[in-house]
Amino acid sequence: MYLESLFGLEGKVAVVTGGGRGIGQVVARGLAKAGAEIAILCRSGADETVSLIEADGGKACFLKTDVTKEEEVEKAMRAIVDRSGSLDIVFNNAGVCMHQDTMDATVEEFREVVDINLTGEFIVARTAIRIMLERKTKGSIINMASMSGSIVNVPQWQVSYNASKAGVIHMTRSLAAEFAKTGIRVNSLSPGYIATPMSADTPKELRDAWMPLIPMHRMGDPEELMPAILYLASGAAGYTSGSDVIVDGAYTCI
Ligand SMILES: NC(=O)c1ccc[n+]([C@@H]2O[C@H](COP(=O)([O-])OP(=O)(O)OC[C@H]3O[C@@H](n4cnc5c(N)ncnc54)[C@H](O)[C@@H]3O)[C@@H](O)[C@H]2O)c1
Repeated sequence: MYLESLFGLEGKVAVVTGGGRGIGQVVARGLAKAGAEIAILCRSGADETVSLIEADGGKACFLKTDVTKEEEVEKAMRAIVDRSGSLDIVFNNAGVCMHQDTMDATVEEFREVVDINLTGEFIVARTAIRIMLERKTKGSIINMASMSGSIVNVPQWQVSYNASKAGVIHMTRSLAAEFAKTGIRVNSLSPGYIATPMSADTPKELRDAWMPLIPMHRMGDPEELMPAILYLASGAAGYTSGSDVIVDGAYTCI
């Protein structure tokens, strides 16, 4: 009962972007288990996530949305409010990564990563804030950053990803300060290496090279992000805004 009063999300409506697989899928499921109704905004399918949540006894829907397209995001979020009557939590998670030496990358590729990871998160956050302001909702927005927003990963080079995630951390602080007086909280999450389809797409030699660099000598499980996200999403974090919560097996300590 005490824990539920702190972290429970009963009656809340949560948007999860990029919830078709990976971290987004696990978090959508976790937020539903904590009591929230879930709307997944993703450019690829998310039927599996919806089925998993429904099998757990939760409520979820999927709206095909590209987070870089403001009209699509606006339409999807308005549809959620019409259908569910609220918009309380946003897990702003959709993202991509390109491993490339800087001299091999094209400007178009750099733009694509920044467009999805930073501009896309801005579009999602600002649209949600606009709706929360209209409805006087004291909502919580959690922007997906990364430890790559404050360190430079090795041995792979990924300038576009690192720059985009550094941008997410400072965008979060900027939005948190600007909207603090409205009761809307904006925080970011910075995971280290997490075992998902995104990281599984990287060659095994590269993943093997990461292990000695991680003080815990293992990748994180997406479930291990859930407690931090529950904290940021819930009333427990009522005085927390503009924070970047690092969950990285101590990677950024060394
Ligand atoms: N996996 C890691 O090690 C790790 C570490 C730190 C941060 N992150 C961040 O966590 C987030 C999720 O990563 P993941 O590993 O689960 O990745 P993933 O590739 O498994 O999932 C990403 C999801 O985002 C969706 N997506 C991509 N572009 C989109 C767009 N324009 N519009 C809507 N949806 C879009 C994809 O369809 C996919 O469902 C990303 O922002 C990533 O940068 C991941």
